[in-house]
Amino acid sequence: MNFISRARISAIGSYVPERILSNKDLEKMVDTSDEWIVQRTGIRERRIAGEEEYVSDMAVKAVEDLVSRFSVDINEIDLIIVATITPDYITPSVSSVVHGRMNFPETTGVLDLNAACSGFVYALQVANSMITTGQNNKVLVISSEVLSKITDYTDRNTCILFGDGAGAVLVERDNENPGFFAAYYGSQGKSGNKLYCTGLAGKIEKEEAEKVNYLYQDGRAVYTFVIRTVPASVKAMMENSGMTTDEIDWFVPHSANLRMIHSIGEKIGFTPEKTLTSLEYFGNTSSVTIPLALSEAEKAGKLKKGQKILLYGFGGGLTHSGLILEW
Ligand code: COA
Repeated sequence: MNFISRARISAIGSYVPERILSNKDLEKMVDTSDEWIVQRTGIRERRIAGEEEYVSDMAVKAVEDLVSRFSVDINEIDLIIVATITPDYITPSVSSVVHGRMNFPETTGVLDLNAACSGFVYALQVANSMITTGQNNKVLVISSEVLSKITDYTDRNTCILFGDGAGAVLVERDNENPGFFAAYYGSQGKSGNKLYCTGLAGKIEKEEAEKVNYLYQDGRAVYTFVIRTVPASVKAMMENSGMTTDEIDWFVPHSANLRMIHSIGEKIGFTPEKTLTSLEYFGNTSSVTIPLALSEAEKAGKLKKGQKILLYGFGGGLTHSGLILEW
């Protein structure tokens, strides 16, 4: 796959709601245990948005974090892309709401993108393309999810996994030292019914949809899809880039399940020490897990300028998407 870049990430921020939902709390809600959840998924806690807190509220807070920590002037931003599967409204888009709430200039474009848990990586690819083709200089990429509002807290198959939060990065033009080296994506639309939430068209497959407007998943099928597809795709992306695993400083996969992540890492040669996740204390926050893991690592001083990072998202769709970049 041909890949060109004239852009790099120059700022990052994140936000998580205050309320913590621990495994112990879940023990009181469904037939489960802290031990089972930690062993099978690696998750200990997740954050839950307030009753009146929605995706745009969290997106604004993540952007405020980015702006305050990196002195970004929002008047210079050409385009806002929001990756989410839990928008406040069908229309206006979350990016529109953020634009209005934060007083962005009228010359700033807005666009929402739905690629489920792969959304952030797809959005980065779009941002890179908009800059590399010359149309834009600065693109703000936001992921924000309020999965707690589409989670059935009587279903132990799903409610133990999901959490809420938001992350944001600024992608800007850099002709001399572009920061993206390779990209990849793929999808299996025929398996979309293995992980879905109903919408206007109602139930995807009547016989399988037990709940309306809640996330449904066939955990085993999703697990199998990821284990079969992601390692081969990461290898293909690395081949395209001409890079080896030794040259990659950090592997940042979608934080869905620690066992799954370690199994992928083993197949492609990334140790747990080289892997960044946001899983343990924030759970699976869909498109947010990757920017949240990056933001937490940046705040902890783990990310150093020049380090090479491999991102790989996967999930609803079923979709998957990767990028190799330089910090
Ligand atoms: N607590 C306790 N027991 C549970 C449980 C829970 N929360 N959820 C399921 N179980 C039970 C099952 O009922 C089953 O019992 P049985 O053997 O008596 O029927 C047993 O545990 C094993 O269930 P299984 O579904 O085979 O567990 P698993 O090891 O596959 O783990 C997931 C389940 C959901 C954690 C795992 O399949 C997974 O993470 N899949 C990927 C999901 C994902 O990442 N989705 C988002 C992608 S973006």
